[in-house]
Amino acid sequence: MSEKNVVETSEAEIAVHWQEEDYYMPSPTFIGQANLTDESIFERFSLDNFPDYYTEFAELLTWYKYWDEVLDTSDAPCWKWFKGGKLNASYNCIDRHLKDNKNKTAIHFVPELEEERVQHVTYQELYVRVNEFAALLRDTAGLKRGDRVTIHMPMSAELPITMLACARLGVIHSVVFGGFSASACADRVVDSQSRVLITMDAYYRAGNLLNHKAVDDEACELAAADGQKVDQLLIWQRYPGKMSTDSPLVEGRDIVVNDELKKYYGARVEPEQMLSEDPLFLMYTSGTTGKPKGCQHSTGGYLSYVTAMSKYIQDIHPEDVYWCMADIGWITGHSFIVYGPLALCASSVIYEGVPTYPDAGRSWRIAQELDVNIFHTAPTAIRALRKIGPDEPAKYDYNFKHMTTVGEPIEPEVWKWYEREVGKGKAVIVDTYWQTETGGFLCSTVPGIQGMKPGSAGPGVPGIHPIIFDENGEVLPSGSGKAGNICIQNPWPGCFMTIWGDRDRFVDTYFSMYNKDPNSKDWRDWPYLTGDAAVEAPDGYFRILGRIDDVINVSGHRLGTKEIESAALTVEEVAEAAVVPVNHEIKGKEPELYVSLKPGYEATPELQQKIADAITFQIGKIAKCKNVWIVPDMPKTRSGKIMRRVLGAISNRGDVGNVMTLANPEIVEEIQNMVGE
Ligand code: PRX
Repeated sequence: MSEKNVVETSEAEIAVHWQEEDYYMPSPTFIGQANLTDESIFERFSLDNFPDYYTEFAELLTWYKYWDEVLDTSDAPCWKWFKGGKLNASYNCIDRHLKDNKNKTAIHFVPELEEERVQHVTYQELYVRVNEFAALLRDTAGLKRGDRVTIHMPMSAELPITMLACARLGVIHSVVFGGFSASACADRVVDSQSRVLITMDAYYRAGNLLNHKAVDDEACELAAADGQKVDQLLIWQRYPGKMSTDSPLVEGRDIVVNDELKKYYGARVEPEQMLSEDPLFLMYTSGTTGKPKGCQHSTGGYLSYVTAMSKYIQDIHPEDVYWCMADIGWITGHSFIVYGPLALCASSVIYEGVPTYPDAGRSWRIAQELDVNIFHTAPTAIRALRKIGPDEPAKYDYNFKHMTTVGEPIEPEVWKWYEREVGKGKAVIVDTYWQTETGGFLCSTVPGIQGMKPGSAGPGVPGIHPIIFDENGEVLPSGSGKAGNICIQNPWPGCFMTIWGDRDRFVDTYFSMYNKDPNSKDWRDWPYLTGDAAVEAPDGYFRILGRIDDVINVSGHRLGTKEIESAALTVEEVAEAAVVPVNHEIKGKEPELYVSLKPGYEATPELQQKIADAITFQIGKIAKCKNVWIVPDMPKTRSGKIMRRVLGAISNRGDVGNVMTLANPEIVEEIQNMVGE
């Protein structure tokens, strides 16, 4: 079934030119146990049957009231799924499992320090703890249905407990990645108008106990300065019963959760009956402007979709021990550590720290100890594990039946190492392509049915009908060999509903490019623009090539170049800033920054450091630039536009092309000399 060299692509369109690969087929053992092996699903989920086929996903959940309408298009393109239906996400992830599975482990929390005990939280214990914390949120914090709460917590059992307690009350949670800075957290507090911020005092990272409360003290101050007062900072303790930091408690604002909870021991909170279209959470992500956007995900549509994806693509069964290595502060963690696996009554592993701490065998020891059989991670982690411990997996006795890669393109060589060494030649791999906005997968193989191709995400998952358009809206058919913009023809329940507080930006960014009639109520007129370039092979498999906008994918996480540039421009001396992606062996890409200074200022190492610090302050370490180059001038077009393409070529030691048409061609060589060979 080999089909080599079928894709011809222009060099400008494709940075990474991989050859088409042979298929790897799932083993009969895997197929024998898989949740989805019936190929008729593709027939049932054809566009002719849209949108009714999605009721199959909704039926995986328990509803207080069934929906009146599967898809309401009246406010196109803000789709409403399962209109009129009522349910509660916390009930679906906990209560409904108690009758048969209350003693089953819901969460295995693995502390980073190996001498600390793994915590095994049963579904019954999860129920008790979520109820008690929901009572605290309601009575101490005064939160009610529809309020927003920002959660800035590290990986811990308390993080999903906090999220599920919010969901129980109908409070909309906005989880901010624990590694984000105070300033990034404050921006999200302000945008979501959260008057309650939930944190943890400390956590371990690479062997160090970090003071996290101090970060959120600062976030409270910054948010207040920007018009949003945090009335209450709720602080979980990393070690219940004692504070792990010396940051003092702020009188009248700070509440130590572990103390306050004593008032609520034994409390039970009836789950709110939420409408399907009520928001479950906000998840901020980077876009083309400096301001991150709050993707608003629904209760019924989102939960139906992630439950189905967990069941059919992740192939999770209730008896599986499933470990997704992502951070819950990203969409992968929301969908595939918390909501999907728990809705299916699986056991989900949460690991506090660095996968390679204290050594390259740590991940595989965790897998061995907990008997993990489904493993989910990203190419950046796979590259790191391969680099520092290529022979480590063989030393440990674990058996994965299923593995995932997500978040960025994976090089076929890395895929093959993952399959051979980590999966020991026995596990299927799904390369899942999706986004914060999409809630769940867009493209992937169905592991019990379709063969895998290294480096290729696969076809649209059942129900998703991708299409590639060129700039003029012409369809590029499968096998055309041309790269274009990958769009989704149909709405789907996991898709976010809007951008919090900014419907116009939602419509503009995702739906305007190929829409022919802005007043249309017909879903066929509103293809969803992913913002990625892709090619479709003759077999309908999609190879994702990367972003078409100003977004850099660093270690599988999105960073807006504008966000980094805005951070650099907060430094008084900086006149102009331009960020370009540089290829990186482990992270995939890394940002590199060029700045020019206002007249009268000198380039010094101190100033370079000051600019680097401003970026860490505004965003966090994740946005750290490989270099900050202070240049005499930016290469510019005659109309004054900064030529990022030229800077990108210089950073990647590539061909800058013809620069003679620039307003200042001489600057190119000067920058090249500065950056070096
Ligand atoms: O460019 C695509 C890339 O990551 C972007 C989405 O990033 P984010 O919203 O942070 O979500 C990451 C986790 C879902 C996409 O627009 N991307 C995601 N998955 C893949 C991918 N690129 C190639 N292959 C993938 N499997």
